[in-house]
Amino acid sequence: MTRLGFASADFRSLKSFQKELPMSLVQLAMAARVHPVAAHRIPTLLTIVVPTYNESANIRLLAKRLDQTLGESGWEMVIVDDDSPDGTHAVAKGMARRDPRIRCLRRIGRRGLSGACIEGILSSSSPYVAVMDGDLQHDETILPQMLTALREGALDLVIGSRLVEGGDAASGFGRARQWISQMGARLSRLALRTDVRDTMSGFFMIRRDIADDLAPQLCTDGFKILADILATAGPGLRVEEVGYSFRERHGGESKLDAKVALDFLGLILNKITGGALPVSFVAFALVGMSGLAVHLTALYAAMQAGVDFVAAQAGATLISILSNFALNNALTYRAARLRGWLWARGLLTFCAICSLSAIANIGVAAWVFEREQTWIVAGLAGVAMGAVRNYAVSTKFVWRS
Ligand code: GDD
Ligand code: MN
Repeated sequence: MTRLGFASADFRSLKSFQKELPMSLVQLAMAARVHPVAAHRIPTLLTIVVPTYNESANIRLLAKRLDQTLGESGWEMVIVDDDSPDGTHAVAKGMARRDPRIRCLRRIGRRGLSGACIEGILSSSSPYVAVMDGDLQHDETILPQMLTALREGALDLVIGSRLVEGGDAASGFGRARQWISQMGARLSRLALRTDVRDTMSGFFMIRRDIADDLAPQLCTDGFKILADILATAGPGLRVEEVGYSFRERHGGESKLDAKVALDFLGLILNKITGGALPVSFVAFALVGMSGLAVHLTALYAAMQAGVDFVAAQAGATLISILSNFALNNALTYRAARLRGWLWARGLLTFCAICSLSAIANIGVAAWVFEREQTWIVAGLAGVAMGAVRNYAVSTKFVWRS
């Protein structure tokens, strides 16, 4: 019989599942319409989706720990790797060759934690799917407890939580990260109108049929797939949290950065506006605001240096367009980042788009001013028009995403 988890009291669900096996496995296979070749194997009850980017140093140990906790069979691990430069996919495929419980999905030309999780979930046909990080920060030993809660508690979703009893975030985070994480959780509780404490968790288990239903409405470009699931499913979802201690990352480094925070803000605004505002628009708009600061700084410097105003204004305009382009290329459209010759061509296209948007901006502002006579309203209307147009056209023609 299997070693591990089936024997543990926590893993009751899988154990009882096993008990359901009748004497003749071939009979069972026929009844369950399982292919007789597979009849001697316990069907996969749980898929563990592990999104990875540069986790080659960690995934072997993670698979080993899953085996220790979950036992020989009844589960599978799907590693969804975004073509990591450190060759995580090669390591994962090597593991999969030796272990039929492991699969690897290598994605090319795409980046994004949420998208990777969604594709991993969609590749599963088990009744339950878990998502967990590949760096051993999530405590795999609570998986059996999560599965039991999901199956016996008639729940749709169980969250591995740092913010309920038995949970702890201190060990895995520095003070600053802890504070940011808590603020994020508070903000998203408000925006998502949910009681869930750890909405920022990247560790959860969900009924696959529910995830399948939600998948077409989920954003693929964010980092916060759980917050998205909670927002999309609404208050009808039956959710419970199970506490665990967030550990320190095993090897490699975190990918959570400024862009991730911007994406998250974008996701919240996207949900508040009922999907009207695209997630990446927030990043685009913030880059635009930074362009204003760049413009004024450059203008000030040129004026101080005694440059003629019109020349200074023209120079500052060019510098701010260049800075907006570089920042959007590095942050907003990171997944479609342009390099070399394409970078130069993109910059020229971006300049042309910005010039045309400036005309649209002035046109709209003039039209509003004629009716409103308030310069601030007219000015803002023009800026909004220019920004939305810049965003829409740049997305289509410069970064083609
Ligand atoms: N496929 C893929 N593509 N995987 C990615 C990508 C990506 O673009 N970016 C990150 N990952 C993988 C990492 O390799 C890791 O396995 C997991 O996603 C989490 O990334 P980390 O970089 O380790 O995130 P973190 O530890 O800083 O953030 C953790 O805490 C957050 C809450 O504060 C994660 O658990 C987050 O999910 C969580 O929201
Ligand atoms: Mn991590």
